[in-house]
Amino acid sequence: MPPSLADIYAPIRDELEASTALLASEFRDCDPALAELADHAARYGGKRLRPALLLLSGSACGGIDDRHIQAAAVVELIHTATLVHDDVVDAAERRRRGTTVNAAWGDDVSILLGDLLFARAIETFVQFAGPVENRLLAAAVREVCEGELLQLMARRQPELQESRYLEIIAKKTGALCSVACSLGASLAGESDGHLERLGTFGRGLGIAFQIADDCLDIRGDENTVGKTLGTDLRGGKLTLPLIRLREAGQAADLRELEDLLADPEADGLRDRLADLLARTGAFAYCERKARGYIHDGAAQLDFLPDRPARSALLALADFAVTRER
Ligand code: IPE
Ligand code: IPE
Ligand code: MG
Ligand code: MG
Repeated sequence: MPPSLADIYAPIRDELEASTALLASEFRDCDPALAELADHAARYGGKRLRPALLLLSGSACGGIDDRHIQAAAVVELIHTATLVHDDVVDAAERRRRGTTVNAAWGDDVSILLGDLLFARAIETFVQFAGPVENRLLAAAVREVCEGELLQLMARRQPELQESRYLEIIAKKTGALCSVACSLGASLAGESDGHLERLGTFGRGLGIAFQIADDCLDIRGDENTVGKTLGTDLRGGKLTLPLIRLREAGQAADLRELEDLLADPEADGLRDRLADLLARTGAFAYCERKARGYIHDGAAQLDFLPDRPARSALLALADFAVTRER
């Protein structure tokens, strides 16, 4: 049995709880007229991967203090802001086992709530962060937005290549995982070289995590994952399993793919596509690719002493590719 997330988070359990409590107070600290909305967003608890990466990186580098706990809440606040916006872009109805903000209140409210969460995160962060951390976080937020935009601009482009897809997900998902790790190291007083190594580890983890997510969008179980799936197909987003089949498939498989994609609303589309991608080895290719990033990222952690937090980072990287949720 692979370790559960609770097992992986054990070395930073108390600090992660403290950052979750802080996050909840960030959400609640608003005008009473927004209380219901803020409460909805506060109940929006996910896997807490990014705060865990930050705290584990800090711990692996020698120690966590209050700033780590605050920074962990900030990265989760930013992540939540990106999800609130992403669910508008994808017209998604379910997130974290609940209704999305856009389904409950509309796109207009979601756009402004997402902005508010971004702003709140920055306001909190600059109170304790130094110039190095401010620069790192600002660049990461810019990259996430750029990645989401690039993906939109690449919609319905059948010629989208694997290399371009990888560049896009390195930004939209890799950047925040990367900065979570480098902030943990930076706040622990690590050297620039070590920040960079942890940042590279986090980037690879984020890329692998998104490849797994893109496979789950097609073959995952909605109740297990807890969010609307199939949105990539409906939104015309070409992701790695489809790109791989397009780049390496046999003529008959490609014809089958084009037939399936011709009607993105067809009943049973996800199942039939999942079957084709499994049969042609496209999912297996994605898993190999994701594992490659995890393998290369692990080498970046060689400099760290053999502490429980270092092993937990490696276990979390493994979770990123084996997860079903
Ligand atoms: C969802 O992130 C967005 C992606 C990068 C695929 P998570 O899967 O980490 O979402 P939560 O925080 O656990 O809900
Ligand atoms: C969005 O990717 C990732 C972000 C950076 C917000 P997805 O669109 O695949 O995320 P999900 O599947 O909706 O969580
Ligand atoms: Mg989405
Ligand atoms: Mg997805």
